Amino acid sequence: MKNIEIRVNPPYTVMIEKGVSRLCPVLLKEICSVGKVHIVTDKNVGALYLAETENALAKAGFSVSHSILTPGEDAKTEASLFGILSNLKENGFDRLDCLLALGGGTVSDVTGLAASLYMRGIRYVTLPTTLLSMVDAAVGGKCAINFGGVKNLIGAFYQPSLVLLDPDYLSSLPLDIYREGMAEVIKYAMISKEYADAFFSEENLPLWIEKAVACKGEIVSADEKDTGKRRILNFGHTFGHAIEAASDFSLSHGESVAIGMCLITKAAVRRGLCEKSVYETLTGALKKYGLPTSFSGDIDTLLPFIREDKKSKKDKISLIVPVSLGSVTVTDVPTKEIADWLTDGTV
Ligand code: GLY
Repeated sequence: MKNIEIRVNPPYTVMIEKGVSRLCPVLLKEICSVGKVHIVTDKNVGALYLAETENALAKAGFSVSHSILTPGEDAKTEASLFGILSNLKENGFDRLDCLLALGGGTVSDVTGLAASLYMRGIRYVTLPTTLLSMVDAAVGGKCAINFGGVKNLIGAFYQPSLVLLDPDYLSSLPLDIYREGMAEVIKYAMISKEYADAFFSEENLPLWIEKAVACKGEIVSADEKDTGKRRILNFGHTFGHAIEAASDFSLSHGESVAIGMCLITKAAVRRGLCEKSVYETLTGALKKYGLPTSFSGDIDTLLPFIREDKKSKKDKISLIVPVSLGSVTVTDVPTKEIADWLTDGTV
């Protein structure tokens, strides 16, 4: 078993091991005694794993209920959030009970936000079932829903009490969902030299997952609220989120981040801020996993979304700009210059 500590207040552990999800009932007892557990999942994941998870928890003495969300980004709505909150109320949950996020990033986003709000905060545990949620969303406590067409506009930093990362879940992952996760894996190779060395030296998914959690854990432990170092985890995301929203979410998060990483890297190359070889390495890695590397739409459609991005403050926006392979810097750019960066990233 590999345990990675996330040193926030209070700290928690990411337990990584094939089959660790089967320890969920035992480990949950340490968190909420034998109280009530509300499982949040989506239709696809629920069809595969809800019954077995519910049965195991009920057998251990928990009183179990569930909410089933629409798969994908459509789950990140007020309706999903308030549906969960209503279920908690109807089932008489109190502050000693617990939520369990069984699914990908959208499930952990909505579950974490519900946990942060119900009775001003109850505990939650994440059981990530997708590569993307294992290496990113399920760890670090960022949780949100989309609002008014803006990605993640309403949210919180609210940390889980435990993350059980069971690579066995990946065996049921559709190829496109697996590829999405690879965009976030490749992101780590762009922001961390140590990660880049591991990523480019051998194809080893279990190692990539473990190192991604360790890398994210270090960063979140140093900057839980995204005011300093954590911002580098947003590499590719400022343009990526705009691309995702402008496509009305027909492009997945992973595809949009892949394009966003390419745009900002190409722009950095054109501006003499990093070597062309970095861009070539990035696009080569993304292509290998079937991910897109260029933006074919109109950049004007992205600008309103970039202005509404959380990283936009007054008339500036923080861009995460590559310097070399495994190294990025945070650059505050006047919002009026963003169109030029986008143009440099697309021509
Ligand atoms: N997904 C970026 C972060 O958690 O900060």
